[in-house]
Amino acid sequence: METLVSTWSRTAQILPENYVFPIGERPGSVEVPICQNIPLIDLAEGQSQSQTIDTILAACEEFGFFQVINHGVSEDLIDDTMKVVKDFYDMPDEEKAKVYSIDPSKSCQLYTSSYTYADEKVHFWRDNLRHPCHPLDECIHLWPKKPTNYRNVVGKYSLEVRKLSLIILELIREGLGLKPGYFGEELTGSQSLSVNHYPPCPDPSLTLGLPKHADPNVITVLLQGSVSGLQVFKNGQWLGVEPLPHAFVVNIGHQLQIISNGKLRSAEHRAVTNSREARTTIVSFINPSPDTIVEPAKSMISDGVPLYRSFKFKDFLNFYEEKKGDTKALMEAYKIKT
Ligand code: OGA
Ligand code: NI
Repeated sequence: METLVSTWSRTAQILPENYVFPIGERPGSVEVPICQNIPLIDLAEGQSQSQTIDTILAACEEFGFFQVINHGVSEDLIDDTMKVVKDFYDMPDEEKAKVYSIDPSKSCQLYTSSYTYADEKVHFWRDNLRHPCHPLDECIHLWPKKPTNYRNVVGKYSLEVRKLSLIILELIREGLGLKPGYFGEELTGSQSLSVNHYPPCPDPSLTLGLPKHADPNVITVLLQGSVSGLQVFKNGQWLGVEPLPHAFVVNIGHQLQIISNGKLRSAEHRAVTNSREARTTIVSFINPSPDTIVEPAKSMISDGVPLYRSFKFKDFLNFYEEKKGDTKALMEAYKIKT
């Protein structure tokens, strides 16, 4: 528990050595230009469906990122959820200690930095609460008991965000021309919620909340709230993703890159910290079920040769953990050598 940044950093005046990243990985200035080209997609009824699909596909090909508004998740539910997860991190240490664990096999886990804290040379300036959330009735009993409304509010939120994720996947499916039902239970049967907490940091130029990585899942729906910190790596440059309080940031995971045979990108991104205020983000990951075999969709393979080989999702996840953010080496290992 002493290792949680949110616990010990309350009184920290300087950044400890073991949070200082190597020169090439440091953010330096955390004030990067806002990426003006990440599309904002209006999912309100009345919008042209084919235009929406075109914009989403173009965004997934170019950036692997877009934001959505009028997405059907109520602003009240978003505000309530943000409040309850902040309340979670604001609870007294004794209460958080009940959820704290360094055992990654534990399904509901509060921990700091990454699963491999003990082996890290440099730690990440973040705490994380993570738990499964689908099917809800099979996992809600594993979640934190406090704050007392956590299960109720986060339960509703998880369901709504899952619904939205499946709507977006359906638009992507149509855009890619995949057969109806392609993103069924096998590819979407697992969902986890990850609540990142980045406390104010004494020197944001030297450290990171999350280092450069791409997400290993199918699709990610992230609530950034009103505090900036998410950056995308595009053409060798870091660009900020504008914080829009009730919008969701959507990004493509490695599984969708592989299923689309490389047409869609799972873009690299990171989280920087700031010295002014704590930042809390709520991230929903849609994953294939562990034993699902993932491979490029047949209809995406134009010349008969797929770019990637097939694999069991759980094996991919293990290899992802082993590669530790080395996206190139990870994806190369799944490429078919020609
Ligand atoms: C993640 C992630 C970014 C953020 O959790 O995978 O990229 O801004 N989070 O919290
Ligand atoms: Ni991520």
